[in-house]
Amino acid sequence: MEVEILQKEIKEKINKIKSLNELEEIRVYYLGRNGKITNILKSLKDLSLDERKIIGPKIQLLKKETEDLIFNKKQELEQENLIPKIDLTKPPKKLQKGHLHPLTLVEQKMRQIFSGMNFSIIDGPELENEYYNFDALNFPPNHPAREMQDTFWIKQENKNINSKQRFLLRTHTSPVQVRFMEKNKPPFQIIVPGKVFRNEALDSGHEINFYQLEGLMVGKNITLANFKFVIEEFFHKFFRGEKIEFRYRPSYFPFVEPGVELIIKYKGKWFEVAGAGMVHKHVFEYAHYNPRDFQGFAFGVGIDRLAMIKYKIPDIRLFYESDLRFINQF
Ligand code: PHE
Repeated sequence: MEVEILQKEIKEKINKIKSLNELEEIRVYYLGRNGKITNILKSLKDLSLDERKIIGPKIQLLKKETEDLIFNKKQELEQENLIPKIDLTKPPKKLQKGHLHPLTLVEQKMRQIFSGMNFSIIDGPELENEYYNFDALNFPPNHPAREMQDTFWIKQENKNINSKQRFLLRTHTSPVQVRFMEKNKPPFQIIVPGKVFRNEALDSGHEINFYQLEGLMVGKNITLANFKFVIEEFFHKFFRGEKIEFRYRPSYFPFVEPGVELIIKYKGKWFEVAGAGMVHKHVFEYAHYNPRDFQGFAFGVGIDRLAMIKYKIPDIRLFYESDLRFINQF
């Protein structure tokens, strides 16, 4: 065979090669122990000296060229293998997106509804003192709620301090009532959504921290009828026009008189959803209002409670366990 033809054939074959396996096959085919080039080299000895002088160098050169071609192709293929292969027809990996916690969703909805009724949204400290959490809310000095089992007190070395210096984690959002009234004059209507803490035994209905939304409306000639309208309007909006029934039961909270408890019937079941009442005159006095000038109602709604009713959640602890199988359902 003409060396030139063989040379051309080898070049074309190596050019078309796409894998290292194919390349190895070609190498064996030409340069292996029984390869085409190897065999030509072996048969040189049967040729005449003149022929050997012409063909010998040519075939040696072809051998060298072929080795180089294979070496270069090998490097090229190895380089390609390092580049990750992207399959554009594959479905993409799903991105893990964060989203809002069910309690946040419910709180946002509540803020939105009350804002729509012209309530302002007010904040207060979670680290509160005894004065605002209890005294200014007309809790008698020995009221059981002040005891160790209900309140998380902040440890203090100095026992000889007044109640504004005795710190605790607020047990309700009501202390913000007095804080706000000290700095503002009626008429106003506010809500205070926030975290509260109670030193209680845990069960499906009790957590040591949970969320409340306080409401306070003060002005001239405010009555319980105003409360009834506002809260029922709120619940109709919150449950988007689904059928709800309301019941008001007499109840006791030191900072209201009279005090009521609101229960609602939703999907055939009764739920206690709020404590409320007319602001006690002592509370107005603590805020330096003249109780003869103003009236007001206050209420406290459990945010966790509403979320449990709305989403049929049987256990309050689920909100705080950070289990994505739970959280991702909302
Ligand atoms: N602060 C009361 C509680 O925790 C609720 C409440 C608020 C009652 C306002 C009456 C008026 O439980």
